[in-house]
Amino acid sequence: MSFLDAPKVVTSRFEHDDSHTLSRFLATGGYDALRKALGMHPEQVAAEVDTSGLLGRGGAGFPTGRKWSMLRPAPVRYLVINGDESEPATFKDHAILTRDPHQLIEGAVIAAYAVGAMQVFLYVRGEFALGLERVQAALNDAYRHGAVGRDIFGSGFSVDIVVHPGAGAYICGDETGLLESLEGKRGFPRIKPPYYPAVMGLYMEPTVVNNVETISSLPWIVNHGGAALAALGEPTSTGTRIFALAGHVRRPGNYEIEMSKPTFRDLIYSPELGGGVRDGNAIKAVIPGGASSPWIGPEQLDIHLDQKAVQDAGTMLGSGSVVVMDERTCMVRAAWRISRFFHRESCGQCTPCREGSGWVEKVLRRIEAGQGREEDLDLLLDVCDNISPDLVWPPKQTTICPLGPSIPPAVVTSMRMYRDEYLLHIKDGACPHG
Ligand SMILES: Cc1cc2nc3c(=O)[nH]c(=O)nc-3n(C[C@H](O)[C@H](O)[C@H](O)COP(=O)(O)O)c2cc1C
Ligand code: SF4
Repeated sequence: MSFLDAPKVVTSRFEHDDSHTLSRFLATGGYDALRKALGMHPEQVAAEVDTSGLLGRGGAGFPTGRKWSMLRPAPVRYLVINGDESEPATFKDHAILTRDPHQLIEGAVIAAYAVGAMQVFLYVRGEFALGLERVQAALNDAYRHGAVGRDIFGSGFSVDIVVHPGAGAYICGDETGLLESLEGKRGFPRIKPPYYPAVMGLYMEPTVVNNVETISSLPWIVNHGGAALAALGEPTSTGTRIFALAGHVRRPGNYEIEMSKPTFRDLIYSPELGGGVRDGNAIKAVIPGGASSPWIGPEQLDIHLDQKAVQDAGTMLGSGSVVVMDERTCMVRAAWRISRFFHRESCGQCTPCREGSGWVEKVLRRIEAGQGREEDLDLLLDVCDNISPDLVWPPKQTTICPLGPSIPPAVVTSMRMYRDEYLLHIKDGACPHG
């Protein structure tokens, strides 16, 4: 079986124009998994998720079953679904919110039942106007249908779901920043320890935070069994995953494919997927897993789309966003744009992140503008080293949240791969790409 033939776990309804409606959802087996789950013991449902090997799709790739098992015993528990998705070039959760909101709601109720949550909060990026509209409409329909609220499908289990729009801050995607924001405060991430959500989460109660795609995978797992998901991919990365492919490919878009089997080359060049690079150009670099990930070069395209394989290669799959940069791309400008994003989004609590991001952004900007000095290259590395000591992978963290150590990878890898291009900007006093 080719990796292209794997079943669609989360995007099976995307081909229908009315995929967001209750009628389409019910006509395609929607809410069957919830009825099945409610007939099982909650621990059985959790055991199926554990068996599936499902890794969280939000960025860190933590096993979902293990996360659930870490919940502290307590009468009040919350489930929080992370739909903030503010990472540049990541657009998979938005697709789920707009095109299959009922699947997400079904997954949310299944998860709430499995972990014993009495309330679900769905935190959605505020700019997702259509996503918010669709998910709210679907929620109203789901309440009327008896799939959410009191005594769901006559099972005796009750849970409410509240949709909470964000207000345009990337840092509210960090799970503890998100919890602060939900509590009505400024989205300042909390220090771990002690504020692990499973122990001291929302309103200081045990809380599970899961990504939209993670939760949307649950109906398929309940319907087919955890072992069926585990049979896809490899034990190090089971199932399928949506890769948000962007940049200089012919066919950018969201592609749900089997994990582990295909490589970056398959994703970028398969005619059914990326379809190759624009104008037949050569690839210069690829950002393999979101803005925080170290870049890979054209000689690394045969790495498999597997969490461990990518980690072993010194980078990460992260949020599933893959950005292709072709030979016409200025590497300094690309690194500068990423550093500018982090500088703008730093919440300012930690000195290395708040100050370091500003230094990196300014120095890169002046190099790109042709006003840099050769000493700037050492200066950049020095500042990056102060943000994340030794510039190793996985990065060392001296800050409250992982946004700080997310700043150096683009800078350091672009300098390692294309130092000549940095020097050319300095020598010529201009960007060689115009
Ligand atoms: C700065 C920052 C931004 C993040 N943004 C998101 C986001 O938009 N969506 C998301 O699901 N996880 C995001 N995460 C990861 C979350 O903290 C958390 O690990 C995730 O929601 C857990 O869900 P999962 O286990 O299902 O992957 C972010 C982390 C950091 C440090
Ligand atoms: S690392 Fe940056 S974003 Fe994270 S808490 Fe510190 S200052 Fe805020």
